[in-house]
Amino acid sequence: MELNQSKTLTNLARAFAGECQARTRYEFIEYGARNEGYAAIADLIDTIVYNEFNHARMFYTCIQQASKQEIKNIDISCGFPFKEKWNLTENLRLAAEDERLEAEEIYPIFAKTARDEGFEDIAGLFENVITVEKKHQRVFTELYEQMKSGTLYKKKEPVLWKCPSCGYEGTQKEAWEKCPLCQAEQGVIKPILPADACL
Ligand SMILES: [Fe+2]
Ligand SMILES: [Fe+2]
Repeated sequence: MELNQSKTLTNLARAFAGECQARTRYEFIEYGARNEGYAAIADLIDTIVYNEFNHARMFYTCIQQASKQEIKNIDISCGFPFKEKWNLTENLRLAAEDERLEAEEIYPIFAKTARDEGFEDIAGLFENVITVEKKHQRVFTELYEQMKSGTLYKKKEPVLWKCPSCGYEGTQKEAWEKCPLCQAEQGVIKPILPADACL
């Protein structure tokens, strides 16, 4: 089957649109986080934003290779979420939900269709992206849980906190509100994430 005659081409266009929108939605969340003083969370989200950009780039590249001619238009019909309001904690939960949807429901179907249509490389691409979206889901879920429970900068046991601005370190239950050395705000301190939620 030719790629430009296939369902897989439409799925690639959907995936491209979905990744572009995820990227923009996460930039909105990042913008809100930075505004509220959560600079370290904003930096983490920025890494995810860049991952989505590159997912979009890979899908776009596959579409470009479908035809030597210019592809003027691909009609797609699908729903996209518009759930987020300007609430950081809630948006982290919603982002995790969208990542789960991509990783568990949408991309596995796209991978299967690609394989059925004989596009093994594209099936593999979808499967590789799934592994990353699962990691994104994990990161958003962990940040959501720490924000919701108030444990982002306050732990039950003493932990090592480090100021990324000046390098000051301290082992204590709660991170300082302002760095004792350089006065940097608490929100610049990197959240402590379990190994499976590190980007
Ligand atoms: Fe993605
Ligand atoms: Fe993602």
